[in-house]
Amino acid sequence: MDWHIRFNDAEDRLELLDQRTLPVREDWFHCTDTASTIYALQTMVVRGAPAIGVTAAYGCWLAAREALATAGPGEADWRPCLEALLADLENARPTAVNLAWAVRRMRAAWEPGQDIEALCASWLALARDIHEEDKRFCRRLGAVGAEVIDDGDTVMTHCNAGALATADYGTALGVIRGAWDAGKRNIRVIANETRPFLQGARLTAWELAKDGIPVRVACDNACALLMKKGLVQKVVVGADRIAANGDAANKIGTLGVAILARHFGVPFYVAAPLSTIDPDTPDGDAIPIEDRTPREVTHVGATQIVPDGVEVYNMAFDPTPAELIAGIVTEVGILRPPYGESIAAALAGR
Ligand code: MRU
Repeated sequence: MDWHIRFNDAEDRLELLDQRTLPVREDWFHCTDTASTIYALQTMVVRGAPAIGVTAAYGCWLAAREALATAGPGEADWRPCLEALLADLENARPTAVNLAWAVRRMRAAWEPGQDIEALCASWLALARDIHEEDKRFCRRLGAVGAEVIDDGDTVMTHCNAGALATADYGTALGVIRGAWDAGKRNIRVIANETRPFLQGARLTAWELAKDGIPVRVACDNACALLMKKGLVQKVVVGADRIAANGDAANKIGTLGVAILARHFGVPFYVAAPLSTIDPDTPDGDAIPIEDRTPREVTHVGATQIVPDGVEVYNMAFDPTPAELIAGIVTEVGILRPPYGESIAAALAGR
């Protein structure tokens, strides 16, 4: 079911369930060219590393169509135009490596001398493949990861690494769904609210409640007390980029959750497809961290909560060191320390 990312054949456009207005409204946003696709990525109409990758794959097709329409059918005309559009698309957001991964994969299918119509046809087919593949990988990852959850566990998660952040099913929420689908019906979820964009409160709670999986939202700063009281048995989060040594960048606040989990003896897992692993990034310090607009911090919705003129921080991600991670759940199995070795072996077998 293409329920939040769908390609509309009749209208030649990509349609996205607008995650900015969930859970209050279910609006749809239409991407018809590169600019609207970049806008959707940057303003978080669509967000979450694998979903960003799927969107970027369709975005390449939209870019090729745009290059043909604006520059003309001669390769000398459309090629430089397409190259420029792809560069803009690839740089829309810096941290989630799935964006560059998807554009690189589309480029690799671009045959020398191919005319633009043939390129468009093969790119649309490949974008659809990437979309379907992500659904399969999330299901597999969920089935693999189900073993780390015991029936009766309360699982904390941070941000939204669910169906909305992927093509379907999710990564961290895929592990929870995998356990639920395996019959572990006494599990509960704590969704950290995840300031400033509130992906936990708005999106994780929305999709788990829809599925009937018990979920409670907690303020981000309740994490320490919840763990101290023994109310959390596992933590499972997603990732935007996993470095070659296993350090994993995820939504800002994840590092604090991981440090607290270590302090209170709660196993901390990362769940992500292999497309989120970047072998070219040696460690977490080398992962680029997105700096987003101050307005996300100074305002909640339309309401200003920070005095005029006061500066804020809005770094959107933080890297969790590999030594705090009990396992990395992927579609090919659970990777364990030492991650340098287990990651290299998993990528070699891809
Ligand atoms: O800024 P966002 O909402 O794109 O950040 C998303 C996250 O940090 C997710 O946890 C991550 O992308 C994993 S998605 C399966």
